[in-house]
Amino acid sequence: MLEVARIVGGRRLSGTVQAAGAKNAALPLLAASLLTSEAVTLRNVPDLSDVRFMAEILRHQGATVTNPAPGTWVIHAQEITHRTPYDLVRKMRASVCLLGALVGRLHQAEMAIPGGCVIGPRPIDLHLKGLEALGCVVAVEGGVVSVDATRARGSLVFMGGPMGSTVLGTANLVMAATLTPGETRIECAAREPEVVDLCALLLKMGADIRGHGTEVITIKGVDRLRGTEHTVIPDRIEAGTYLVAGAITGGDVTVTGAEAAHLGSFLDKLREAGVGVETGPGFIRAFGRPTRAVDIITEPYPGFPTDLQAQFMALQLLVDGRSTVTEKVYPHRFMHAAELQRMGAEIAIDGATAAVYGDRPLSGAPVMASDLRASAALILAALTAKGETWVQRLYHLDRGYERFEERLRSLGAEIERLPASAMPKGFAED
Ligand code: EPU
Repeated sequence: MLEVARIVGGRRLSGTVQAAGAKNAALPLLAASLLTSEAVTLRNVPDLSDVRFMAEILRHQGATVTNPAPGTWVIHAQEITHRTPYDLVRKMRASVCLLGALVGRLHQAEMAIPGGCVIGPRPIDLHLKGLEALGCVVAVEGGVVSVDATRARGSLVFMGGPMGSTVLGTANLVMAATLTPGETRIECAAREPEVVDLCALLLKMGADIRGHGTEVITIKGVDRLRGTEHTVIPDRIEAGTYLVAGAITGGDVTVTGAEAAHLGSFLDKLREAGVGVETGPGFIRAFGRPTRAVDIITEPYPGFPTDLQAQFMALQLLVDGRSTVTEKVYPHRFMHAAELQRMGAEIAIDGATAAVYGDRPLSGAPVMASDLRASAALILAALTAKGETWVQRLYHLDRGYERFEERLRSLGAEIERLPASAMPKGFAED
């Protein structure tokens, strides 16, 4: 059933929310559990459609996957297959991170190549180049990539591309290298906390990895990995989204269980915009409205995260003057701008830069979510808009935010989830 969110703007949000586990850490961790024939237990896994879908793929690969308690998943991959078909991969681009796990464990993989998506083309050339540098034989035919790693040996791999490092490309290479003989040195490795969390799990499984969290990761191949238990890091993007929700309404929101050290560039920009920010062990608080126009440039970690760009744009709409957003990770990731314009925003896009002319009155409208972060941004803007906003295609939101509207409501927002049929006549899509 298609669902929509109905938001009535104008409420000031205040209170506390607990950060959930990070989606973008959990997905590669689930994939990594295929690297051992023993059971891996993951805790603090967020309850998201992407996670349930990854569990389905792991089952397809032959693993036994159970969810014995909320947030806990046990993966036991005694015997698995190396083939992953298109009808699974096409539904979730992140399933590409199975590639490294299959190559590591089975020394062969056959996976349909995921397509691009609405945030832009999403090639996997760097993933494949990295595997080739390890000595894998890689072939692409009929939309399927085949990797033969029987002769793979550790080596020097440069993973930089036109946009800098690649997150899942690095994750794939690290996973493959853990069970590849010899020493692999990955240069221009992604430094994202989610990559560090993956390495933390792999270390517990018996891998030999150094340098994670820096641009150079060194991995010495081991013969086998073992089962273990691991707790997923908090979701920095989700935490950032709730902090924007507080600031955008001139409220006072604290996210507990969040890691301020993972959000340095974002918190810096919030402060620059005039929002009060307080951090301490396991919490981040944002209070007061933004008062100054600020420019942001998205970049790989520790730069400003592209996954908080759309939400931050919603905040820039409140401030008098011209703010800019420059996308250096996904130069076309501005689908939300057109929908924000339907609410009265003035945004001009020129290539990879959007100029936001703030302090225009926003009014509620029917809008369409195009992707996960765009859907969050539209809801955030709706919190400040006059009147009623209907956000359609809510399934995008459910890929990455656990009980979003319920938690916004607990902070004082007027938001409800309804069947699409509840929309006023003429608003709903066909
Ligand atoms: N790129 C290439 N070639 C490659 C791989 C990437 O040119 O082989 C380019 C991409 O087209 C993009 C840039 O490099 O322009 C960075 O892409 P990256 O590979 O780092 O992205 P990803 O690993 O596929 C993860 C997150 C995304 C997040 C990006 C960037 C997961 C499951 N996904 O994707 O999350 O935007 O890193 O930080 O970890 C989201 O959660 O909404 C989301 C899209």
